[in-house]
Amino acid sequence: MKERIKKLQKEKDVAILAHYYVDGDVQEIADYVGDSFYLAKTATKLKNKTIIMAGVYFMGESIKILNPEKTVYMVDIYADCPMAHMITIKKIKEMREKYSNLSVVCYINSTAEIKAHCDVCITSSNALKIVSKLKEKNIFIVPDGNLASYIAKQVKNKNIILNEGYCCVHNLVHLENVKKLKEEYPNAKVLAHPECKEEILKLADYIGSTSGIIAETLKEGDEFIIVTERGIRFEIYKKAPNKKLHFADTLICRSMKKNTLEKIEKILTEGGDELKVDDEIAKKALIPLERMLELAG
Ligand code: 13P
Ligand code: SF4
Repeated sequence: MKERIKKLQKEKDVAILAHYYVDGDVQEIADYVGDSFYLAKTATKLKNKTIIMAGVYFMGESIKILNPEKTVYMVDIYADCPMAHMITIKKIKEMREKYSNLSVVCYINSTAEIKAHCDVCITSSNALKIVSKLKEKNIFIVPDGNLASYIAKQVKNKNIILNEGYCCVHNLVHLENVKKLKEEYPNAKVLAHPECKEEILKLADYIGSTSGIIAETLKEGDEFIIVTERGIRFEIYKKAPNKKLHFADTLICRSMKKNTLEKIEKILTEGGDELKVDDEIAKKALIPLERMLELAG
């Protein structure tokens, strides 16, 4: 099936993009695999007129908004990130009324409608850089409260306002499990995603995006305690098969696992559900996304 997919995508000039959390066999046939920022940025440089996105909805949606002339298919149009919906436009409007000198910053894990009401977009790999560059004193970060609280600890000269959203996968990490692993493997560095709760991040030696975590495992050290979704192991084992990885909990993002080779082959042979974004919303949501690309450098 992998060979058939590669042949079909060449014939049809389709680029396949995948996130590190999808299954290894899907990552294997993808042309580009990366974190959310890499995927959004890469899509703007592609010559292919059609993109198949193996990830979750907000990833495909951001690619479509940044490249409206391209045809974008989600491998599974129902692969959604629950966190993307954990903020309302009403709440953003209330904050705009309450605070002057405010910037509303949306994590890329948000809907296009939310992005359309925000000033700048961030991902876990560029959040600190971008928030530090903003001139406003008050920064409302949506939807992820854990990421926002991590930024608040690092960027001390801003008033970071938190929202109550969270990732239902990273929120499941048990403090006791991380502590136990640390005792068991005292030489292993703890690498965690900023979507984890503050109590977990306190135990981490490194906090960063999926690609940041992968890069850390390629540096010195033979074993690591990884606190993020398990799909990340495919890339690490590909690049460094001898490293030992200890996962704090069995974290599985069910939406990411909806991406399968069968569905990709079906899109390439029969077509699929094309991802569409309302024109007015897309025009407004493009502003924070382009600002992210500009500020992240
Ligand atoms: P990254 O941008 O770090 O790949 O994270 C995306 C995500 O959804 C993590 O849960
Ligand atoms: Fe969303 Fe969490 Fe899955 Fe990432 S791991 S896509 S934040 S549900």
